[in-house]
Amino acid sequence: MTDNRCSVLIVDDESGSRQLLRLILQDKYRLSFASSGKMALEAAQSVKPDLILLDIIMPEMDGYETCKRLKTIPATSDVPVIFISALTDITEKVNAFNSGAVDYVCKPFQSDEVISRIETHLKLYNLQRHLEKQVEMEVNKRRMDEQMLIQQSKMAAMGEMIGAIAHQWKQPLNSLGLIVQDVEDAFEAGEVDKEYLKQFSNQCMGLITLMSHTVNDFQNFLKPSDKKDIFDVTGAFYEVVNLFSDLLKKDDIYVRINTPETCRCYTTGYRNELKQVILNLINNSRDAINGRRKKGAAVTEDGWITIDIKDVEMKVVVHICDNGGGIADNVIDKVFEAYVTTKGEGGTGIGLYMSKAIIENKMNGKISASNIEGGARFVIELPLVKPDGEIQ
Ligand SMILES: Nc1ncnc2c1ncn2[C@@H]1O[C@H](COP(=O)(O)OP(=O)(O)OP(=O)(O)O)[C@@H](O)[C@H]1O
Ligand SMILES: [Mg+2]
Repeated sequence: MTDNRCSVLIVDDESGSRQLLRLILQDKYRLSFASSGKMALEAAQSVKPDLILLDIIMPEMDGYETCKRLKTIPATSDVPVIFISALTDITEKVNAFNSGAVDYVCKPFQSDEVISRIETHLKLYNLQRHLEKQVEMEVNKRRMDEQMLIQQSKMAAMGEMIGAIAHQWKQPLNSLGLIVQDVEDAFEAGEVDKEYLKQFSNQCMGLITLMSHTVNDFQNFLKPSDKKDIFDVTGAFYEVVNLFSDLLKKDDIYVRINTPETCRCYTTGYRNELKQVILNLINNSRDAINGRRKKGAAVTEDGWITIDIKDVEMKVVVHICDNGGGIADNVIDKVFEAYVTTKGEGGTGIGLYMSKAIIENKMNGKISASNIEGGARFVIELPLVKPDGEIQ
């Protein structure tokens, strides 16, 4: 049968005191005993008691010292200690609390008093352990949720990427097909000579190189940046826009980047993560523009996404505006929260949540959203640094 009673370690150098406490407590608790400070330290680590009753005056190591040491050992540091002593002086009590005890009982004691104090502190201790466990579980759960979100957003970006590669491959693949088909006709017509073969192989290799560059570009796109970099924000925007603008053109959506000639927009942080943010914002604008068209509004109107990059008062400030009709009133105050989406199955609602985490937690910046005439505007602010990394 398992004994579910709480366990109490009794530490006293006098066997009479130990016997007395045994009589009072043995029915209610599992007891173990130590007759010196040194033995108490060992017993506390092997027995792992729920509470310790500790005498103060003991030879070699007194109760205060024993208590202080118990508090420095991880396995015993949070076990409540109650002093039991004949010393009644107020300074002794202060010393007891200073050494880490939770309570103090004077000898000679009433058995009821000892039991009720033990009960109170066991309850408090259990409550504290329970709360700590709950907090730990909550923290673990959040960590797992966070990991899942990061994973999901990576998968989403991966999907985008595959779409873009497929799109960029379509044309060279078609051309390759045509060139290869032509060989047979040319052979029949007696046109295949050394010159023809040379041209054939040049054309094929040109197209293949183009296709492999596309793959390289996209492969680099998602690699997490492992260290902070100093980089030109404008360059990061151009890179994303260049990779995806073809795909957007298909939907009659045009992206323009405006930046003053004199703008020096270096920041410090994680370049690839910023590119992921840019992609999230562009995709949201694309969804908004296409969504608006589906509703029949101004179907013929071109979609546009305008990106303005400036350096303003020690900050790089980027405005990303579109003509997708703006953010819906019912979500505008919470678009940066996880799982907020108006796209049903078509969205997970983590794009902006991740974007905010990247900009604000990893890059020391700020991101905000508002509506403008006919569309939405996102503003990103990042710290401006000199190209050598010095903060301006
Ligand atoms: N440019 C925009 N124009 C209009 N509404 C927008 C725009 N950007 C975001 N929103 C609104 O904010 C919501 C949250 O955006 P978020 O990027 O976090 O999630 P999502 O796009 O719905 O899903 P995903 O996780 O696939 O990105 C969107 O569902 C949309 O309603
Ligand atoms: Mg999104």
